[in-house]
Amino acid sequence: MKRRQKRVLQMAFVFMVALIFLPNVGLWSLYREKHLMKSHEAGEQGFSLGLSEGHIYTWTDGLRRRDWHDNESIRRDELRVGKGEHGKPYPLAEDECDDSVYKENGFNIYVSNNIALDRSLPDIRHPNCKTKLYLESLPNTSIIIPFHNEGWSSLLRTIHSISYRTPDHLIAEIILVDDYSDRATVQSPVGTTAGS
Ligand SMILES: *[C@@H]1O[C@H](CO)[C@@H](O)[C@H](O)[C@H]1NC(C)=O
Ligand SMILES: *[C@@H]1O[C@H](CO)[C@@H](O)[C@H](O)[C@H]1NC(C)=O
Repeated sequence: MKRRQKRVLQMAFVFMVALIFLPNVGLWSLYREKHLMKSHEAGEQGFSLGLSEGHIYTWTDGLRRRDWHDNESIRRDELRVGKGEHGKPYPLAEDECDDSVYKENGFNIYVSNNIALDRSLPDIRHPNCKTKLYLESLPNTSIIIPFHNEGWSSLLRTIHSISYRTPDHLIAEIILVDDYSDRATVQSPVGTTAGS
């Protein structure tokens, strides 16, 4: 074999090995995730932590992972009907068309004000993400939202989404930082912090 051919073959071999065994991205990690998951214990541990019903899995690496999906909420979201639900377009009647509503925020604040603060959204995750399990024990976190002259309803919707879609014990606090707003609507009601 010519030396160059040999070189190319060697490179190809190294590439294949990397493709298969690279941690997290290699084919082996996909296989491990699908097939080597061990000992599925339903419920019990979840309950003792004061969480809603969930499934705990112990992996071959000894770490406990949990199916964090809140199927109850997902089902409730699917059943919602109304304007803007499921992230669908909001049809404007002729008498609702008014360009001035875009002026202050760059989006239609009239529409935002008329969509429920806890509106549903479609699940646009990649199908593989929907079966992903995350560690059972996760640290809590502070969520900091800086805003400047933000539309009141969109700001409230943000806070609703966080509290509605995050397990309570993972939110330590939500901090709203008013970054020098000069519009009366956002100035008065928001303090500097809001506990979760
Ligand atoms: C949620 O539903 C999916 C699909 O039906 C199921 O595989 C999963 O175990 C459920 N998860 C929980 C925590 O109930
Ligand atoms: C967040 O986690 C820390 C460290 O575990 C804990 O000390 C603190 O009490 C938690 N905060 C809340 C609000 O749960």
